[in-house]
Amino acid sequence: MTIPKYECTDCMKNFLKELPKCEHHVHLEGTLEPNLLFKLAERNNIILPSTFPTTVEECNIRYNNFGDLQDFLDHYYIGMSVLITEQDFYDLAMAYFQKACEDGCLHSEVFFDPQGHLERNIDLETVVAGFDKACKDANKKFGTTNKLIMCLLRHLPNSDGLKVLRDSKKYYQNGTIHGLGLDSSEKPFPPQLFEDCYNLIRTEFPNVGLTAHAGEEGDYTYVENSLNLLNVTRIDHGINSKQSSELMEKLYQNKTMLTICPLSNVKLQCVKDVAELPIPLFFDKGIPFSINSDDPAYFGGYILDNYIVVHERFGFSVEQWKTISLNGINGSWCDESRKQELRDKVDEVCNKYLELV
Ligand code: HPA
Ligand code: ZN
Repeated sequence: MTIPKYECTDCMKNFLKELPKCEHHVHLEGTLEPNLLFKLAERNNIILPSTFPTTVEECNIRYNNFGDLQDFLDHYYIGMSVLITEQDFYDLAMAYFQKACEDGCLHSEVFFDPQGHLERNIDLETVVAGFDKACKDANKKFGTTNKLIMCLLRHLPNSDGLKVLRDSKKYYQNGTIHGLGLDSSEKPFPPQLFEDCYNLIRTEFPNVGLTAHAGEEGDYTYVENSLNLLNVTRIDHGINSKQSSELMEKLYQNKTMLTICPLSNVKLQCVKDVAELPIPLFFDKGIPFSINSDDPAYFGGYILDNYIVVHERFGFSVEQWKTISLNGINGSWCDESRKQELRDKVDEVCNKYLELV
């Protein structure tokens, strides 16, 4: 681990905590803490494979040694097998919303992987109802706003994705699900395989937000093809966009937000240290990005931990953090009045800390 270059003082930590944050890249199934995982396994009489860790301590060791994205995913799909009832999905999401609120995250757009549950014979309605109820209850309890983004698993055939989308139309229609994303093993499954799926949603629900994981392990062409063929307006990860100055210019011109996940990139060995991430490059080029936790139960930190490690590596000023926070708000899929509310809070917090840090 590289030694932090900049100190994140207690005052700076308080600032980063109070700074209104939006999270755009967190997989609800990736917020399954080992404690809850083992509790649900017991509650549901699930016997985990013998290769799976059996204690919280064993989990923590395993989670510090993922070889790459696929190695993590193999574990992640086994982990989610303990989720069975609507209450399980609700408990999982509520635990995340509470943690996010404690971290000063005021708006979350959260991913979930329905196919990871359907293939275990869990009904779509069970999954969506549990997550939707948690979004609403978190709003009442914590005052945070939350939106669901359904992701397609790219290792499954596009026909499977089309079927799930057809079955999900009612949720897009009534606003329960707000976005479409694409996740799982990137390199063997490029974005062009999913053109039909994105077309289906775009033509029928033009207001639905479109995003896709791209440029995490795949090269910059995965980002280009997601923009050109899937018509996404946001890119999840996108760190390999730095390989093409032409692409970076396009991201800048179109104000396409990258949802960057610093601790995830280290844990999945995309980079050796957060210091290697092209965050200052994107900042200087005016490419909007947000800072996110991805799968916080597996990667050792929630949103605030990710903000702190970015500060320790790059030492941004209050003004620079203000720009990052505002870019995250502007790139969110909440309505204009909520965005203005969040911008006003950013002003308030930045004015308070401008003289202090
Ligand atoms: N990348 C791709 N798919 C995923 C991830 C990720 O980091 N987390 C959960 N599914
Ligand atoms: Zn992700």
